[in-house]
Amino acid sequence: MRFGFSVFKSIKVFRITSFCKQDIGYCIRSRWYTTNAAEPEESASKTAKKERVKFKRLDGSMDTSTSSYQQRSEYSKTLEENHNKFISLARSGGGEKAMQRHTQVNKKLFVRDRLRLLLDEYCDNTFLEIGTLAGFGMPYGDIPCASTVIGVGKIHGTWCAISANDGTVKGGTMYPIGVKKQLRCQEIGLHNRLPCVYVVDSGGAFLPLQADIFADKEHGGKTFANEAIFSALKIPQIAIVCGSCTAGGAYVPTMCDEAVIVDKIGTIFLGGPPLVRAATGEKVSAEDLGGATLHCKVSGCTDHFAANEEEAFDVGRDIVASLNADLPSEPESWLEPLYSTNELPGIDPATPGSMKKIIARLTDGSRFHEFKTLYGPTLVTGMAFIKGHLVGIVGNDGALTANAATKGAHFVELCCHRQIPIIFLQNLPPEGSITDIGDGESMGDVIRARSKMMTAVACAKVPKITVIVGDSFGPSNFAMCGRAFSPRFLFMWPSARIGISSQEESQFGGVELDSDETLELDSKTGERFKRQVSALYSSGRLWDDGIILPQHTRQVLGMCLSITSQHGQEEHTKFGVFRM
Ligand code: COA
Repeated sequence: MRFGFSVFKSIKVFRITSFCKQDIGYCIRSRWYTTNAAEPEESASKTAKKERVKFKRLDGSMDTSTSSYQQRSEYSKTLEENHNKFISLARSGGGEKAMQRHTQVNKKLFVRDRLRLLLDEYCDNTFLEIGTLAGFGMPYGDIPCASTVIGVGKIHGTWCAISANDGTVKGGTMYPIGVKKQLRCQEIGLHNRLPCVYVVDSGGAFLPLQADIFADKEHGGKTFANEAIFSALKIPQIAIVCGSCTAGGAYVPTMCDEAVIVDKIGTIFLGGPPLVRAATGEKVSAEDLGGATLHCKVSGCTDHFAANEEEAFDVGRDIVASLNADLPSEPESWLEPLYSTNELPGIDPATPGSMKKIIARLTDGSRFHEFKTLYGPTLVTGMAFIKGHLVGIVGNDGALTANAATKGAHFVELCCHRQIPIIFLQNLPPEGSITDIGDGESMGDVIRARSKMMTAVACAKVPKITVIVGDSFGPSNFAMCGRAFSPRFLFMWPSARIGISSQEESQFGGVELDSDETLELDSKTGERFKRQVSALYSSGRLWDDGIILPQHTRQVLGMCLSITSQHGQEEHTKFGVFRM
């Protein structure tokens, strides 16, 4: 993924307002950016307000000439190259032949070109793509992008959850991972109260795997139920039909509040022409059976007739403009970190003390109002701004001891009371023996304290965003807002690992290597663990929302915070019983 800073393309003014003695060395104390040169006063007054916030600066300095920094940077570069290869593979769809059929024979636009027409701007800085690598390494093969592109992008300034089938991957049919991805898109829409836009071009269920797609609670039918429930919650549901909507797929547009269909290429029917012929002997064209004219003039299944795809996306955008929807809060100015985000790939999160170096490269001005610095120091907690948004940060710098977890629970409570989003930076080493985890702490202390933190995190209604920057081994993953604790978004760095325990622990823990057979068995288990704990394995299964490069983390967090700000917060946190 590329995250340059093209987001600042439109910046017209850049000004350095003042210097002060203590800032020399970093130079800029209060630079501000504005996208609107006509309103300098408003921008300046907001800047002045922000200037009153003077959190302390973190010391993020480090020696980048050391061999350990250089080695880590090299390692990260290799991972980045590998990651980029997978991303471009996923984004190129179902291959050359399928692309040819889709664009030349069927005369349809490729899904990424459709996104270009639909969104205000389509690039990595403006479209938060989710689960790009989902579908890789499935037991049934590699399914590029799980045949559906999902993400959050802006239409007329409003963040919308977008789901768009890729018709080049087996006719856009739904595999089990595709259904999971579609439901994840809807969940993002629900959690953040975003209008949902479905760009439909799908042959429905991938029939050879129908048993894993159709009948269960979290299978295909859930999509349709969600559309009705979300609509009742006043979360708009919009469909743009620019391909097939067959069988169950027919209900994606018809369950929507409003639907557009493209002449000649959009069709909606329960069974296609071959099925009709087999059942009744009647020969009928797809267009006559369920095309745009029929559904706009006769059946009323769709509301807007579009002569071509360009028109359909224009109409789709007009529908969003007519929603009277919320707009995100967009801070007009912020300080960049004093330390370069490009140094993040050189930091090994496993090195004690690295968490504050990471935070110093993520927060505005590298400023951080730390909470309980001396207590439970293996958990770093504090307030900061990221791209102008006030956040609470909870990051691991070692094992989650009893004191660290107690502090974490307290800090999460503070954020909930003050309605501040929380960023969790997971960095949980393999625990080894739980009894020697904290100084003088018993296993009971640790379990009780972690339960407390889990209660706080699970019940917290403020937006929660998790980034796994290092390892995430063992049940501390839950207290640090793992997937099961419903963060609004969860991303992993390419080097991150996730599992019950590390390969080393699982391979040798408690096993006596006393025979060749055991050795062989053990090495197979080790290999399997190594594969299964990797970020790629996790992302392929959609255990996370994607792999992001360390140097893009600040940019991604900024987008997530803007998205979560759109609806604001209505729900207040009610905590369960804390284990004391
Ligand atoms: N299950 C499994 N595979 C399917 C499929 C389905 N429902 N629908 C299409 N495919 C496969 C085709 O076999 C073909 O595979 P191949 O590339 O290995 O040859 C590939 O998807 C593309 O299909 P094709 O018909 O060649 O492409 P197209 O773009 O011209 O048409 C559809 C796409 C989806 C419109 C068309 O294939 C179709 O109508 N399929 C049947 C849909 C259906 O009946 N679904 C009911 C499911 S509930």
